[in-house]
Amino acid sequence: MQILKVENISKIYGDKKNARQYRAIKSISFEVKEGEFIGVMGASGSGKTTLLNILGSIDKPTNGRFMMGGKDIATLSKKQLAKHRMENIGFIFQNYNLLETMTLKENIILPLALRGTGVREMEEKVFSLAKDLGIIEVLEKYPYEVSGGEQQRAAACRALITNPKMILADEPTGNLDSKSGKELLDLLTYINKEYKATILMVTHDVFAASYCQKILFIRDGEIYNELHAGENKKQFFDAIIDVMSVLGGEVR
Ligand SMILES: Nc1ncnc2c1ncn2[C@@H]1O[C@H](COP(=O)(O)OP(=O)(O)O)[C@@H](O)[C@H]1O
Ligand SMILES: [Mg+2]
Repeated sequence: MQILKVENISKIYGDKKNARQYRAIKSISFEVKEGEFIGVMGASGSGKTTLLNILGSIDKPTNGRFMMGGKDIATLSKKQLAKHRMENIGFIFQNYNLLETMTLKENIILPLALRGTGVREMEEKVFSLAKDLGIIEVLEKYPYEVSGGEQQRAAACRALITNPKMILADEPTGNLDSKSGKELLDLLTYINKEYKATILMVTHDVFAASYCQKILFIRDGEIYNELHAGENKKQFFDAIIDVMSVLGGEVR
C-alpha cells in the first residue's frame, strides 16, 4: 500500500518582492510504499533537507502537494496538522536534538507526555523500546553523559514511541563514528523489518545509502536518478558511487 505520494513539489525561499529568491526545489514527484526503506542522496545544497522538512510539515511547499496515508496534508487545519505531525511522523536529526536538561528516558517519552498518555503506559513503552534498541542501562543519564551513538539510539526511540507511519531521518549517521554509524544503520534496518516502519533517510554517505532498498538522487532540486538494491550489495554500492561521482557529492 502506498503511504506517501509527492506531486510536483517546489520550494522557493525568500520574499517575492525582493530579488533574493532561491529555488531550492524545482519540481519533485515520487511515491513511497508502506514498509519501504528509501534513501535520498545528492550533493550538499541540492535540496534534501528542504524536501524532508516539507514532508515532515516543518516547512511548507511553495507549489505542489503531497498525500500521506491518503490525506492531502495541505488541506489540514493548524490543529489537525499538529496532530498529524505528532501521530504520524518520527524525526531523527543529524545532531540528535535531545533536550539537554532531560534524561534520555524523559526525552524518549516526551512525545507521549505531550499527548497526555498515562504514566504506566509510557513506562512500559519506553522500557520495551529501550531494551530493543540497547540503551536500557543509560536511560536515567543525561545526553552529555552518554556517547553520540547512544544519543542517536535514544533519538530513534523517541521517533518510534508513537508508532508513527513514517520515520524521516536527516543525515542520521552524519555525526557518528563509523562503528556507531553502522550500529544505527543496523538499528534502522531492524526498525524497518520488525516495527514495519517506513523510513525515508537523507544521507550523502554511500555506505549508509547501501542499507536502503531504493535511492532517489536529487540534483539542483530535481530527481536525477533512481536506484534499486539488487541481490548483490557490492554492485549496489558501486552503482551508488557511480551516480554520486556524477552528482559531485563527496564519496567516502
Ligand atoms: N531558510 C532558507 N532560506 C534561504 N535559502 C535556504 C534556506 N534553507 C536552505 N536554503 C538553500 O536551499 C538550498 C538547499 O538547501 P538544503 O535543502 O539544506 O540542501 P541539502 O540538505 O541537500 O544540503 C541551499 O542552497 C540552501 O542554501
Ligand atoms: Mg541537509
